[in-house]
Amino acid sequence: MAIKVAINGYGTIGKRVADAVDAQNDMEIVGVTKTRPAFGCDLAVRKNYPIYCTYDDAEKISAFAESGYECHGGLSDLLAVADIVVDCSPGKVGAANKAKYEAAGIKWIFQGGEKHAMTERSYTSSANHMENVNVNGTRVVSCNTTGLSRTLVPLYNHCGQLKVECTMIRRAADPGDSNKGPINAIKPVLQVPSHHGPDVMTVKPEIEINSMAVAVPTTLMHCHSIVATLPEGHGLTTNSVIEMWKNSPRIIVMNGAQTGISTTAEVMEFARDIGRKWGDLHEIFVWEDGVKLDGNTLYYFQAIHQESDVIPENVDAIRALMGTESDWKASVAKTDAAISRYNNL
Ligand SMILES: NC(=O)c1ccc[n+]([C@@H]2O[C@H](COP(=O)([O-])OP(=O)(O)OC[C@H]3O[C@@H](n4cnc5c(N)ncnc54)[C@H](OP(=O)(O)O)[C@@H]3O)[C@@H](O)[C@H]2O)c1
Repeated sequence: MAIKVAINGYGTIGKRVADAVDAQNDMEIVGVTKTRPAFGCDLAVRKNYPIYCTYDDAEKISAFAESGYECHGGLSDLLAVADIVVDCSPGKVGAANKAKYEAAGIKWIFQGGEKHAMTERSYTSSANHMENVNVNGTRVVSCNTTGLSRTLVPLYNHCGQLKVECTMIRRAADPGDSNKGPINAIKPVLQVPSHHGPDVMTVKPEIEINSMAVAVPTTLMHCHSIVATLPEGHGLTTNSVIEMWKNSPRIIVMNGAQTGISTTAEVMEFARDIGRKWGDLHEIFVWEDGVKLDGNTLYYFQAIHQESDVIPENVDAIRALMGTESDWKASVAKTDAAISRYNNL
């Protein structure tokens, strides 16, 4: 029987998770929530996803019908028909929802805007799928932490030890955000280390990692500049690291000079050219000619599509929590095959 999935918060991440879940043959969307009958409801109607109100308030629920949308009830009604809820509410808002999910007796997944301390467990497909099998709730880590895990976990698995320093060059806002900045400044995160590196240790505590971050006036992607110290006797070369990543799931490695894809703008154009829905790129993009292993020190750049790299991870996390697939690679293969049916030209 298909896993019944509720999406609480149908915004940037919620609408993407809904479609990725809908594409799978072992799960189905039983409803999505909106706070009010506004932007986003039409998309849910077109997709045939039942709309529920974020609140149980009768007045707020009836406002949907007044605007011409069928509303199936409040959050409690949605939780009553679901096996699991994916909370895609804005960062730091979700904590208040946890008690509601526990009262409803269903499993829950939060996003990276919430603290690990609140969920007490975090998730990325490659780092700790198995530890999340059959648990009640977890947090899919942020887009940056997911990106770091994708390339660092295979390296750690080969080396058995890894020390990392990295700088996150962060997009200022998502393309749909109209109230964030900076628009003409570079804004350092004046908390050192930034939370991104240490957050990797919530899914892979064995990796020693610190990060700094700056926000820059772009909306397209984040870019990471990474320096990793490998242990003596690592046995790797620049080429074998590149091959390792090419053979790891959800990483694209391309040569910037040869392809002409040398900036995040071109990476995003590439994603649109190959027909990805919303122009998304679920994979982490590594520039082959930006990778250099010098003795024990590995240098590389990678680009992260912030709105979409966590989407397939949410699908894998659902399978982990529901205990329907304990092999992370099998889940990743299933998730990505289903998504690619709607994704590629
Ligand atoms: N955007 C990214 O790049 C990105 C990447 C990785 C992780 N994340 C994380 O994913 C989560 C969602 O971010 P987002 O970018 O998708 O935010 P978003 O675009 O602002 O969407 C959040 C949605 O939550 C709804 N909402 C507001 N208050 C709510 C509540 N109390 N309970 C449930 N839903 C509520 C809003 O509904 P209405 O529209 O109906 O008002 C909105 O559609 C955050 O934790 C964020 O840190 C975001």
